Amino acid sequence: MTGAAPIEVRGLGKRYGEILAVDDVDLTVESGDVFGYLGPNGAGKTTSLRMMLGLIRPSAGSVRLFGRDPQLSVAALEGVAGFVEAPCFYPYLSGRTNLELCAALDGPDDGAPARIEEVLEIVGLRDRATDKVGGYSHGMRQRLGIASALLRQPRLLILDEPTTGLDPGGMRDMRQLVRDLAARGITVLLSSHLLAEVEELCNRVAIVRRGRVAYEGSLAELRRAAGLSYRLRTTDDERARRVLAAQSGIAEVSDLSNGGLVFKAAGEGAVAELSLALVESGALVLELIPRQATLEDLFFQLTEDGATATPDDVAAKIAQVPV
Ligand SMILES: Nc1ncnc2c1ncn2[C@@H]1O[C@H](COP(=O)(O)OP(=O)(O)OP(=O)(O)O)[C@@H](O)[C@H]1O
Ligand SMILES: [Mg+2]
Repeated sequence: MTGAAPIEVRGLGKRYGEILAVDDVDLTVESGDVFGYLGPNGAGKTTSLRMMLGLIRPSAGSVRLFGRDPQLSVAALEGVAGFVEAPCFYPYLSGRTNLELCAALDGPDDGAPARIEEVLEIVGLRDRATDKVGGYSHGMRQRLGIASALLRQPRLLILDEPTTGLDPGGMRDMRQLVRDLAARGITVLLSSHLLAEVEELCNRVAIVRRGRVAYEGSLAELRRAAGLSYRLRTTDDERARRVLAAQSGIAEVSDLSNGGLVFKAAGEGAVAELSLALVESGALVLELIPRQATLEDLFFQLTEDGATATPDDVAAKIAQVPV
């Protein structure tokens, strides 16, 4: 089973009464991925991660971690670590003592004391290790959570919104820590509702909405599929608007608050034809500036209508040609 992907989820579902918290989710996390599980509040991220960690039972579908089912045996969690929501520790004990207790749970191990020092170093808590956890900041507790996960020398780390609630400095440190762990060869799946964070950290992403995956793939592919939007300013924007509306390959025309128009184009050919049509109409071009669609633009498109999208679907949606 050594060749099996770190995470393979098929048809995963979880129902709480009327609420379908997770609905038919498929995803594959490959070795070496930093995989972003991105969605707004209530999208089903924590519920999905709980099922992946074997903490709750799916209503439908399956999870495989390196080919093994965490529902069938805790052995499936060998090499896997993580936490959902906030990690829990004894507040009246020190960070180091909490880690000693965590290590003891995995059975006697002569290497544990050295590893505790190593993980404290990795997460930057060495000099606060003797302080009581009750006096730790939220960010320090998150880092201690990662330290306890690292004790198990995981090949796969599953983290639920690891930067939520941290100040900008804490977020930066946590992201750097995730990058460092990935550089050590640990595969990471992290959930987030922050596009910029996922864009910065992750090579692959699943965008979830109301329990369903709206997009799964690489960010580069998603950005490429999004194509270009353009900002246009002319000598006569009223006339330009009419030209845009009549032009094939031009879509989603809207006004900018400070004057000018934005639109999306099916390709550069459509933009070239548009510029000619504008000149012929007498609306002379003052500015025509391409802008790469942000992940945020895409996120709203994907999560508003709830459809499952491939990069081709996204491209088709963005390049809709007005009739
Ligand atoms: N134990 C539970 N009992 C009933 N409903 C639940 C339970 N756990 C989650 N839900 C519901 O499932 C849906 C998904 O919740 P979940 O916590 O997975 O979302 P999330 O994406 O992690 O959101 P957030 O960004 O706020 O953490 C929500 O509607 C939530 O109310
Ligand atoms: Mg959550």
